Amino acid sequence: MILDIDTVSKTFEMHIIDGKTVPGLADVSFTVDDGEFVAVVGESGSGKSSLLKCIYRTYEPSAGAIRFQTEGGEVDLANCSDREVLAVRGSELGYASQFLNEIPRVPAVDVVARPMWEQGMDREAARERARELLTALDLPAELFDAYPATFSGGERQRVNFARAIAPQPRLLLLDEPTSALDPETRASALELLDDYLPASTTVVGVFHNYDVVQQVADRVVVLDDARLQQVVDIADYDPEVLA
Ligand SMILES: Nc1ncnc2c1ncn2[C@@H]1O[C@H](COP(=O)(O)OP(=O)(O)OP(=O)(O)O)[C@@H](O)[C@H]1O
Ligand SMILES: [Mg+2]
Repeated sequence: MILDIDTVSKTFEMHIIDGKTVPGLADVSFTVDDGEFVAVVGESGSGKSSLLKCIYRTYEPSAGAIRFQTEGGEVDLANCSDREVLAVRGSELGYASQFLNEIPRVPAVDVVARPMWEQGMDREAARERARELLTALDLPAELFDAYPATFSGGERQRVNFARAIAPQPRLLLLDEPTSALDPETRASALELLDDYLPASTTVVGVFHNYDVVQQVADRVVVLDDARLQQVVDIADYDPEVLA
């Protein structure tokens, strides 16, 4: 087991509406095995992004534990210090957010290369790897040195995806990484996941598209209204019944 999500809740306090709280996640528990691909599905607003943000510690969970077995030992991502979170991000823990909101004034190739520099890779070698990843995602070469701020949604999504997989993290969190891509580009992205990441990589990914879930997942976590509805093997997953 690489990840143990133990009765995790996230409650949002809405300060505008006096004293009112909104549940993002309520008592969610499941475990993830080493090398497994877990797909998270559920209706819009069911808590999928909140779950990934709690694991990456973009959100601090209100309760519960998230035990992550890193190379250096167990880290409880729900309760550890910010310094410990920063130490596991990168080679241990990677994340592609659903929306790429903050776009630095940095060329696309450097956005993707940066996580590799931060791991001590040589600058030019990291840029070369970044170009290879962007090429595999069918991003036109003339965009490599342009700023992603001017890119289309699908182009940005590919930069975001390449940045997340570039350092080959042991645990990768993907929030709808192919939602803005056409079928051909989506196929390239899924192929890249397979080719570029070691077979030992563990992935927790949010997907809306049933064909994608069917193609990539070993198990499916179904969320409904902030709660865990079911965890099923892909062979037993029936989207008509469960999501
Ligand atoms: N930062 C926040 N502040 C307040 N409420 C939030 C915040 N983030 C999420 N929520 C609320 O938590 C609930 C779950 O949101 P979440 O983004 O996790 O849903 P989702 O399953 O990812 O939906 P979608 O499929 O539309 O991306 C929603 O009711 C949402 O409004
Ligand atoms: Mg979401």
